[in-house]
Amino acid sequence: MDAVVETIGLKKVFRDFWHRDKARAVDDLNLTVRRGEVFGLLGPNGSGKTTTIKLLLGLLFPTSGTVRVFGLSPRNISVKSRIGFLPEESYLYKYLNANETMDFYGRLFGLSSSERKIRTEKLLKMSGLMPSRRRPVGEYSKGMARRIGLAQALINDPDLVIMDEPTSGLDPIGRQEVRQLVLELKKLGKTVLISSHLLADVEDICDRIAILYAGRLIAEGSVKELLTRKDVTHISVSGVPRSTVERVVNALRDESAKVDVNTPMSSLEEFFLSAIRDLESAERQKSPVEQVKIASADEKQSVIERLTID
Ligand SMILES: Nc1ncnc2c1ncn2[C@@H]1O[C@H](COP(=O)(O)OP(=O)(O)O)[C@@H](O)[C@H]1O
Ligand SMILES: [Mg+2]
Repeated sequence: MDAVVETIGLKKVFRDFWHRDKARAVDDLNLTVRRGEVFGLLGPNGSGKTTTIKLLLGLLFPTSGTVRVFGLSPRNISVKSRIGFLPEESYLYKYLNANETMDFYGRLFGLSSSERKIRTEKLLKMSGLMPSRRRPVGEYSKGMARRIGLAQALINDPDLVIMDEPTSGLDPIGRQEVRQLVLELKKLGKTVLISSHLLADVEDICDRIAILYAGRLIAEGSVKELLTRKDVTHISVSGVPRSTVERVVNALRDESAKVDVNTPMSSLEEFFLSAIRDLESAERQKSPVEQVKIASADEKQSVIERLTID
């Protein structure tokens, strides 16, 4: 009973006005998402990710096949209350601030005023939005809007969180923040299903992935299982002289092994994120509090000077 989501032979065909098949959006899909894992539903645009998610949420009826969420039909009201959903585009009321947004959705779930207050504070802290909680969300950047969308999807403390393309349209920092939030959710014991057409965005946070193509499952498994090249071993060495490396390489070549020696490069994204982090920590060292302290010390000195002159 560890399956949180299960689909068996799931199929969705969209038909046109004359009931002719228009698009076979999901075709014979068998998926299992286990409790506590981060599951990636990957595939190019139009491969059926959003349709699959709508079927899991009970927003669409399958043409055939079965969907079970927590062992029940997703149309069951008790199932809906255990799911948090972040759609591809969140529709936020742009004149409400973050506090009011959270309060509004808390009311929809029938939470008491004290519960709404506690959850709002906890979720805004978790998503790093406390400093901007009184600004209208219409003024938020794309990354912040995605974070308030996610905080809002968590207001009912769901066991399963489903996110459709949460990183699309974000810059590297925004994408990193979303990844960080997903890992926090996993730490809290939530099951997370995340769809993406950007494989690199999710490969290091997913426990298991499924790859869809034209509505069909073409690969499923742990990222490690799918990506490990069992015939190749990488050895990373630092702090030894070049001559030692050469001796080892020669020993391997004597065994007629194929050996590649190179100095690894960071990815441009890693480089970008670490450059920004360095800049931010340098900025923090001259924090405004310190600057104020210095300024007020100067001021005091000048007041003293003025007093003594007077
Ligand atoms: N309401 C709809 N009516 C007709 N065709 C649709 C509808 N929704 C999606 N499709 C089609 O189903 C296929 C899968 O779409 P979608 O699930 O949105 O893919 P993804 O989210 O992976 O980009 C596409 O060919 C799309 O055009
Ligand atoms: Mg989609």
